[in-house]
Amino acid sequence: MQPTPGRSCPTSYRYAPGTFAGAPALHADTLWIAGGLYGNPYALETLLDAYLAEPGSKALVFNGDFHWFDVAPEDFELVEETVLGFHAIRGNVETEIAAPEEGAGCGCAYPEWVGEATVAHSNRIIERLRATARSSGRDLRALAALPMHFLAEVGGERVGIVHGDATSLAGWNFSQEVLATADGCAQAEHDFERAGVGIFASSHTCLPVLRQFSRGRTLVNNGAAGMPNFRGERYGLATRISVSASNGALYRARRGNVFVEAAPLRYDVMAWERRFVSQWPPGSDAHRSYFERIVNGPDYALRNAA
Ligand SMILES: [Fe+2]
Repeated sequence: MQPTPGRSCPTSYRYAPGTFAGAPALHADTLWIAGGLYGNPYALETLLDAYLAEPGSKALVFNGDFHWFDVAPEDFELVEETVLGFHAIRGNVETEIAAPEEGAGCGCAYPEWVGEATVAHSNRIIERLRATARSSGRDLRALAALPMHFLAEVGGERVGIVHGDATSLAGWNFSQEVLATADGCAQAEHDFERAGVGIFASSHTCLPVLRQFSRGRTLVNNGAAGMPNFRGERYGLATRISVSASNGALYRARRGNVFVEAAPLRYDVMAWERRFVSQWPPGSDAHRSYFERIVNGPDYALRNAA
């Protein structure tokens, strides 16, 4: 049977949890991780301001789906140029614009609780974004060559950075839906055990989660850096992992000497709304799937996340 575009997870997206056994690629006192920027240049600006204001040794890792709504050439260029100046791993969006897999569509591997219309819209959004990427003149091999996972160390803690989950670039095991089940939590415990990390930082599933498991092992999913994450709130979210707590965190957990925090990105929401509509007017695929969320936030509350 042919895979349904947008529903399946290509085998090339998979990796073994043992992937995280090696030496960390970087050590820092403070690590910012931003997934799901979705081509929002205002969220990017806000993120960089916050990151650059951090004292001490620091690093910033974009954990995938930094592109999505940025079909305007200048927006695509800005995101591409900026993000690739830092550490980055690829999400399904970057993978599917740079090295499209037959039948993968957007590569989201949407589970059954996501409706057909959303899947169809996403598959058409990726086609438009692919056209922008191809005509940008940029060498897309740089995107295709980005890793699918990244290992960092903060305050002696090993941090596994992924886009989806412990075994797949587009996996949904680190979603709040799966982690709300006993099986999902047992799987996460197992993933921590096999990966040998104290912290997993993910994104992809579009809703933020902070959960702790045995021995303080901590899973943090930042939801979206470039879109609202809670009903009635319009800020994006990034993950901040540091040996020192910040003042602005929405919620946090502690693992050993390290604080794992949800950092709000209070970008210019009106500018972003105008920018979004100029690229995706009413009736367009992205407008139909995302405008309501961009204006009002998803049907999700802060108490659901932490
Ligand atoms: Fe994704």
